[in-house]
Amino acid sequence: MSPFSPVPFTAHRSGSLLGVAAIPGDKSISHRALILGALTVGETRISGLLEAEDVLQTAQAMRQFGAEISQTAPGDWQVWGRGVGGWRAPDAELDFGNSGTGARLAMGAMATTPISAVFTGDESLRRRPMKRVLEPLTKFGATYEARDGGLMPLTVYGTDRPICIDYEVTVASAQVKSALLLAALGAPGVTRITQEALTRDHTERMLQAFGAEVSIEPLDNGGERICVMGEVELWPARIAVPRDPSSAAFPLVAALIVPESEVSIPDVLLNPRRIGLIDTLLEMGADISIVNRRESGGEEIGDLIARHSQLHGVVVPPERAPSMIDEYPILAIAAANASGRTVMRGLEELRVKESDRLSAIANGLRACGIQVDELEDGMIIHGCAGEVPGNATIATHMDHRIAMSFLIAGLASRAPITADDSSMISTSFPEFETIMRSIGAKFS
Ligand code: S3P
Repeated sequence: MSPFSPVPFTAHRSGSLLGVAAIPGDKSISHRALILGALTVGETRISGLLEAEDVLQTAQAMRQFGAEISQTAPGDWQVWGRGVGGWRAPDAELDFGNSGTGARLAMGAMATTPISAVFTGDESLRRRPMKRVLEPLTKFGATYEARDGGLMPLTVYGTDRPICIDYEVTVASAQVKSALLLAALGAPGVTRITQEALTRDHTERMLQAFGAEVSIEPLDNGGERICVMGEVELWPARIAVPRDPSSAAFPLVAALIVPESEVSIPDVLLNPRRIGLIDTLLEMGADISIVNRRESGGEEIGDLIARHSQLHGVVVPPERAPSMIDEYPILAIAAANASGRTVMRGLEELRVKESDRLSAIANGLRACGIQVDELEDGMIIHGCAGEVPGNATIATHMDHRIAMSFLIAGLASRAPITADDSSMISTSFPEFETIMRSIGAKFS
């Protein structure tokens, strides 16, 4: 891994933002397409793959497990997989860089195959909790060795006698759920996974597209039970990756907070479990139209048009958190530009993302002159109606979404805002600077 060298980057108050922002492919779906392709015998074709560092690390890990993966044109990729149970043991450690999704899903996908693999990542990933995945994987028969606290670097020993499980996921995490669903593919019989929180369901949808037997049953507590038949053969699939709503969130909020802006963002994934931010912004008075809603590859997509708006503070329902879990940093920027208070609770999970996002957001906003009350599970932001002072350098803590969120804030603040490091942006959205400049953002 290259030594860490921060790249500071500054955003300046900009004139109206106008035009079209064509966002790259969805990160969650891109990881899953590569992993499921690697678990399939035959040729999987992917179009619109997000070619960002996180996803490219997953592609590399899949090659180390024996899949053949190549790019045929920009965004178009081909995966020749080895089938469920067919992965080989990597002959070197797997480096997932900054990506919790890639690492955790791959742990699940290999746990019911009799191979072992060493998992590691960058400084941020090596601080993130892995026991939430490793412990339930032991129920299938896998074992592991990790640093104290279940941290990376760690080794997973897949089992040669997997058993199917009946397990309740108590943490509101799609990564944990997905890791178990992928492990279930290699265990004979039906695995049942229940979860109260309705986290993103891309793994379930894509498993169905690859021909797996998956059924989903709603539960009385509002959650659901997902049943997967193990020891199956997947069919090669064609996956068209829709554009990422979590990246679209940046030009979307930029258009809302920079006066006289109008930005359209085409073909965005509108999976109901990913659009909590849009619901919340609409409640805050945002002028966002969703047009041309249609279906593509088993997912709903549509075009967003956002115009400058006078936002007001709201109380965000805590149960909405799973559907906007990655969007709280940019929502906080919208809240800082709104009039009145915005209350966000139920956000314990934000403390174990790429950084402790609650404290990174609170400290960043305070540095910009905004009053914030940080709570154990959330925060209250006292908005200043479009008059964020700025004039701050933000500690981004190796977190791409903290960096991008505060750079968006700088486009509307009175004085510039600098992200102390912008290099991590390429983990999820390498085109961020180019796309934002093309609609009128001023950076230096
Ligand atoms: C993801 C799930 C979420 C999200 C992450 C991507 C996924 O993490 O924060 O960026 O692709 O499954 P958790 O499952 O830890 O909530």
